[in-house]
Amino acid sequence: MDHLHRTISENSEWAVEARGLIKNFGENRAVNGVDLNVKAGTIYGMLGPNGAGKTTTIRMLATLLRPDAGSAKIFGHDVAKEAQIVRQLIGVTGQYASVDETLSATENLVIFSRLLGLGRAESKRKAEELLEEFGLTEAARRPLKNFSGGMRRRLDLAASLIAQPPLIFLDEPTTGLDPRTRNQMWDTIRRLVKTGSTVLLTTQYLQEADELADRIAVIDRGIVVAEGTVDELKSSVGSSSLHLRIENPLDIGAARQTVERVLNAKSNVSSEGGKIIAPMADAGRVTELLIALRESGIHLAELSVQKPTLDEVFLTITGEGASEDVSSVSNESAKVEEKIR
Ligand SMILES: Nc1ncnc2c1ncn2[C@@H]1O[C@H](COP(=O)(O)OP(=O)(O)O)[C@@H](O)[C@H]1O
Ligand SMILES: [Mg+2]
Repeated sequence: MDHLHRTISENSEWAVEARGLIKNFGENRAVNGVDLNVKAGTIYGMLGPNGAGKTTTIRMLATLLRPDAGSAKIFGHDVAKEAQIVRQLIGVTGQYASVDETLSATENLVIFSRLLGLGRAESKRKAEELLEEFGLTEAARRPLKNFSGGMRRRLDLAASLIAQPPLIFLDEPTTGLDPRTRNQMWDTIRRLVKTGSTVLLTTQYLQEADELADRIAVIDRGIVVAEGTVDELKSSVGSSSLHLRIENPLDIGAARQTVERVLNAKSNVSSEGGKIIAPMADAGRVTELLIALRESGIHLAELSVQKPTLDEVFLTITGEGASEDVSSVSNESAKVEEKIR
């Protein structure tokens, strides 16, 4: 972060504060009243299916699109009234797409660095360092027009790291990348935050949000339908659940009584196989339960505690199971369905 960034951004705890953002495209309301609060120095994930309004929201926050209603501040600066200042504080991947296709990756990065005011030697060093980090050293001398989609994505992020602005918007940074490159990207994103940046990323991958984000907003049809830490979101759907099978079916009544007493919750018996299922607010209670069951002379055949996955959270909140996508046979929706699993 250079001096300018530091002086401008220092006085705000919040990298993003958005209130009631709305954007219509003709008849279509793409964003329908989005509120967001992103704390400086964190990774914030906007998770939602294709068409949810993620990109439109990012573009409004990045001053690239004027909201129809609502307001947003970046490090305390209004995106509409102080757009120039806001632009100095942010980096948006995708902006680099307008570079010269006939130049090599190195040349492009050097030019980009020079434009940002870095010296010749510093620009060269920075370019080499970034190309190395993104595994593009081999391809560094080739013209950009021969680059694959994945290589372009990596170069794009590399370019946004030259300036390392205080707030970086990453719009689906890993969509379509192979697992190795995706992991590399994750490491880079973590490094960005360690060195002082704030990252707002959008993703269709639950696992990505789970891995990276300090907090998540689940967005669907232009609305934030849930917000919180990964753990909060998981427990909002239901606590862990205990699955218990006992050796002697005659003990089932006594076993349920013990379970309900120790866990202080109602239990159910599954239709197949007489399995006892009970919600469990605190997984630590399992020890207590085992002791109580042994004291009652009840022998277990099987026990497991299952945490709801982020997938379950997402499906519960959006009500969008696989069934909704089945009616559509387009490749796009099949792809989305796969990601959301
Ligand atoms: N420039 C545009 N013109 C018209 N409609 C748009 C435009 N950009 C996005 N949309 C529509 O707005 C909705 C939200 O899109 P988008 O913000 O791109 O979603 P996401 O990034 O979550 O996939 C979609 O219905 C999309 O078709
Ligand atoms: Mg998008």
